[in-house]
Amino acid sequence: MKKIGLFYSFNTKKTSKIAEQLQSSFEEAEIEPVNVEEATAEQFLSYDNIICGVPTWFDGELPNYWDEFLPELEDIDLGNKYIAIYGLGDQKGYPENFLDGVGILAEILEQQGARLVGFTSTEGYTFESSRAVRGDKFLGLAIDFENQGSMNKERISKWIEQLKSEFM
Ligand SMILES: Cc1cc2nc3c(=O)[nH]c(=O)nc-3n(C[C@H](O)[C@H](O)[C@H](O)COP(=O)(O)O)c2cc1C
Repeated sequence: MKKIGLFYSFNTKKTSKIAEQLQSSFEEAEIEPVNVEEATAEQFLSYDNIICGVPTWFDGELPNYWDEFLPELEDIDLGNKYIAIYGLGDQKGYPENFLDGVGILAEILEQQGARLVGFTSTEGYTFESSRAVRGDKFLGLAIDFENQGSMNKERISKWIEQLKSEFM
């Protein structure tokens, strides 16, 4: 498997916690963390396997730092990139926008040709609507610290096994 670039904001609490767990599940040489708040398009393009960490904020929006980074990728062909997204949300607090940020990010990356991997079942979650859902799957890994934090570990380790077979 080629090296993974792990893009998330180092200034987050919960998103960083998941990033640390992801990192410790791979060999050190297999995965490199990158602070999306300071990232460049060149850095993003230097990996063929990419994991993006994104919490949903502002009632169904991306956090500012993702909004600010994405224009850097405009007009760039992501055709040979394998991208997996993990999202954080609160299904009880925001049942109409659960994990929307994952859907927003997925749509943009897909439009630019990225191959999205790491889809997971929506079984076991309760919410009304989500832009992160396609069919009966989330377009990534859904983490809900507020309501299902005790399931994080198991969900993450299952997802990693999946990524090991889906990444290039
Ligand atoms: C003001 C505010 C708005 C939020 N909006 C949403 C939302 O629309 N959808 C959702 O699923 N979660 C929402 N959340 C929950 C966060 O995504 C969740 O707490 C996440 O774990 C935060 O991660 P972070 O601390 O790494 O930024 C919101 C939380 C806050 C405080």
